[in-house]
Formats: sequence, C-alpha cells, structure tokens
Amino acid sequence: MKPRGPVVAIDGPSGAGKSTVSRNVAKKLGFKYVDTGAMYRAFAVAVEDEGISPEDEDALKEFTKRVDVCFDKDGHIYVNRRDYTHRIRTPLADRLSSVISTKGFVRERLVSLQRRIGEEGYVIMEGRDIGTVVFPDADVKIYLVASQEVRAERRFRELKEKGHRGSKEEILKAISERDRRDTERSHSPLRRAEDAVVVDTTELSLEEVEERVMKLIERGIKEWK
Ligand code: DC
Repeated sequence: MKPRGPVVAIDGPSGAGKSTVSRNVAKKLGFKYVDTGAMYRAFAVAVEDEGISPEDEDALKEFTKRVDVCFDKDGHIYVNRRDYTHRIRTPLADRLSSVISTKGFVRERLVSLQRRIGEEGYVIMEGRDIGTVVFPDADVKIYLVASQEVRAERRFRELKEKGHRGSKEEILKAISERDRRDTERSHSPLRRAEDAVVVDTTELSLEEVEERVMKLIERGIKEWK
C-alpha cells in the first residue's frame, strides 16, 4: 500500500550519524522519526530476558510470532508493553541485536511492524534496509557512510559519556565485526539502494550533514507540498 505522505529512508552502517541527524531533521520538518535499530535492539534484549538462546530457533520463532514492538509518542520503545528504552544502548545490546537481526523470520516480523508504523507517511525511518526492503518506493533515500575509525571514535565518546569503559581498539574491533555481520548476512544485508544518495560524513560536522540531508529531503518531497 502506498503511504499517504512522504517517506524518507536513511540507511548506513552503525556510527555514520544516522540517528542524530534523522532525529533532528524529523523535528525540524515535523515528521515522525523511527529508529528501526532500536526495534532490533529492544527485541534482542527481550529475547535475552525470556532466557531464549538465539540458537534455539523453535523458541525464538514462537516468541517472534507473539511479539509486539512499538514506540510511544515520547519515543520510548516497548516490547510486549514493557519499556526497554534505557536498556538498548549497551555493548551487550550492540552484540545481541547484531546477531538476532541476521534471522530472516525476525526481520520479516519487524519489517511488517515498520511498514505499519510508516504507512501514514510524513516519516523519517532509519536503519539498514529501509530503502532496499522496508520502503523501496520511499520518496527520498539517503545512504550515510563514514570511515570505520571516525565511527569508532564517535561511539567511544558516546559510551564514555554514559559511563561505560572500554578502549577505542575494542570498539573499533566490535564495529568491524558488526559491519561484517550486517553486510554478509543472507537476509537483507546492509547495502546501498541503487537510487540512494550517498553522504560521506567522515569530514563533516553534524550541522553540515543535517544541512545536506535537509536539502535532499526538501528536493525529494516537493510533490507533497
Ligand atoms: O542502528 P543500530 O546500531 O542501532 O542497529 C542495531 C543492530 O540492528 C545492528 O547490528 C543492525 C541491526 N539492524 C538491522 O539489521 N536492520 C535495521 N533496519 C536496523 C538495524
């Protein structure tokens, strides 16, 4: 079904700046902002809470069938009505979500929830497969990239602010491991949609990235105005 308003898809690897940019730009435009990575993260932490091993496909399938993942109007994320907002930005959640998101049946379920969340349009959705799988007909597709070193540095600062320890080297290793899993998985691997515009954020400030993204969106949603 065609969404009733503009859909903006922002994809790219972790640490390229997707979340901050998407959130800020959505606010400026008055659009809904959907962080699909948060959905995979919350889902993965909930699986751990249930005591289900990601290798136990039967139990995981059963849980996936009865799972509901949603946001409230303040952007809090819930799995089966339990609030996971404060538990999804940890190194454990990084790893669990990266593993669990390789499962095809998990992706199918979350993609269907994401399409429902975005069906009204006026939405910026960010993730890995938004322009390729979730909304292949999105009005605007942007693919944000940055060097692994810069992404590790940003992640290091973010974790440090939250009081987590860990060296830059460890973070770089974890990022390269996640990149490998994200790009090599057989179900909807991370890749640029052919019609997505690439924005390399390595040398850009947050304001510069936002400005470019805003211009691309304004150009792409003209027909809705
Ligand atoms: O963007 P993020 O780092 O919060 O995402 C967490 C994990 O979820 C990441 O390892 C990749 C996965 N993910 C995905 O497979 N598809 C998406 N649309 C978003 C995230």
